[in-house]
Amino acid sequence: QDKYAVFGNPIKQSRSPVIHAAFARQCGEAMQYRAVRVDTDKFARAADRFFAGGGRGLNVTVPFKQDAFRYAGRLSERARRAGAVNTLKLAEDGVVEGDNTDGIGLVRDMVANLGWVVQGQRVLIVGAGGAVRGVLEPLLRERPRELLVVNRTAEKAAQLAAEFADLGSIEGGGIELIGERQFDLVINASSAGLSGEMPALPSTLLTERSCCYDMIYGAEPTPFMRWAAHHAAWAVADGLGMLVEQAAQSFYIWRGQRPETRPVIHQVRQVMA
Ligand code: ATR
Repeated sequence: QDKYAVFGNPIKQSRSPVIHAAFARQCGEAMQYRAVRVDTDKFARAADRFFAGGGRGLNVTVPFKQDAFRYAGRLSERARRAGAVNTLKLAEDGVVEGDNTDGIGLVRDMVANLGWVVQGQRVLIVGAGGAVRGVLEPLLRERPRELLVVNRTAEKAAQLAAEFADLGSIEGGGIELIGERQFDLVINASSAGLSGEMPALPSTLLTERSCCYDMIYGAEPTPFMRWAAHHAAWAVADGLGMLVEQAAQSFYIWRGQRPETRPVIHQVRQVMA
């Protein structure tokens, strides 16, 4: 059986083994996929050992996406832009290739699964951490009319906007940049929700057609989702679909097959409830 794994710390919470087991079953692929907790300063050593021991591919989660970026011998354009790698593959020529499937996962979930539109729309992203950096390239490739990135720490959002400006219309800064503006699509990528908080957003930014996506997911609606629903957003979703879609893209990179994601999203949702 071909060996795959996800490296992270902590790793207990990872849903990736369940998701990849479902993909493998569906596609009839003989593969093994494990969750491995790696000491925070030992990523490269653990990855060396994994590939030397016959490992074919790795997923990489918190806090190792930048380590994986440095580890990769070749990078996709997306990964280079993201400065972070969540998927490593041992290529035919023995080089370990790094890619980042988070942004594609987000776009597929919004566009293909939820039926939302990005192209030509006014898009707001809240947050400017690693999660945002990871998704900006695929998002800008969808050609939104405008993309505003706001963050508690304004400079981080301004910096991101400057780095991605060649790919489309993007601005970044503090939350006050929202002002009276309205948005068709609002993506929350701040980690505030993990501690039950939510950035102070003016509800005037929503219209009755706005779609709101939280990259976080959980058994209960997140604070951002509750806020959006309370202010009568048109549609609200959490990031579970993104999780499954980024995994599907990793699976495709490794095995050349595209699993069907809907039943797997459904399955993971039920396990969580
Ligand atoms: P991730 O990999 O999830 O992006 P990160 O790089 O630590 O994690 O980024 C966390 C993001 O959530 C940042 O945009 C952070 O804002 P700052 O850059 O100002 O720190 C944002 N965030 C975290 N807690 C927040 C809170 N209570 N209110 C608003 N934003 C918050």
